Amino acid sequence: MNILVVAAHPKLENSRANRALLDAIQGIENVHVHDLYKEYPNWHIDVKREQERLLGYERIVFQFPFYWYSCPPLLKKWFDDVLVRGWAYGPDGNHLKDKEFMVAITAGGSENGFRAGGDNRFTISELLRPIQATLTHCKGEFLPPYAMYDADRLTPHQFREQAERYAEHIQAGVKQLAR
Ligand SMILES: Cc1cc2nc3c(=O)[nH]c(=O)nc-3n(C[C@H](O)[C@H](O)[C@H](O)COP(=O)(O)O)c2cc1C
Repeated sequence: MNILVVAAHPKLENSRANRALLDAIQGIENVHVHDLYKEYPNWHIDVKREQERLLGYERIVFQFPFYWYSCPPLLKKWFDDVLVRGWAYGPDGNHLKDKEFMVAITAGGSENGFRAGGDNRFTISELLRPIQATLTHCKGEFLPPYAMYDADRLTPHQFREQAERYAEHIQAGVKQLAR
């Protein structure tokens, strides 16, 4: 299975968490990383090229740091520009039908905080619903997300452990992920 990781971090040079995740998947044969902020420093997204790129992959992973319960703005622009009516949804908009989509986030908050009554009040799955709704509107399958919590305070060893878990998660089969 060909996997595309669409990575969106506005300052990857200062990142520890997302860097660790990207390092862990570097060199895996069927996994290709597409760094949005590197590709589009001027934010002029080449829509045709992005759409053509998506066609070559069965699974697409959106990897980003959680910013105000959402994704960094260039990824939101990518959704707005690339997932257009007549291509991604609506009449003849079947190009993403049955593709597998996944979100991989790093969050500063602790896992315990992401629940009713916790600091962040909602679960990660609840907070990712707008992205889930977007991708399922495009007839894709939305797989269980990967999340790294406490992403600003892990030790180098913990980053490596989390990154190994990430490499396994993005390559896992649908049934394995559902368990
Ligand atoms: C603008 C901004 C907004 C953030 N919002 C959240 C948030 O809503 N929830 C959360 O858990 N962490 C939040 N954080 C913390 C980041 O998710 C965390 O610093 C990041 O995942 C660490 O990854 P990195 O080392 O790759 O930068 C925010 C950080 C910034 C800079």
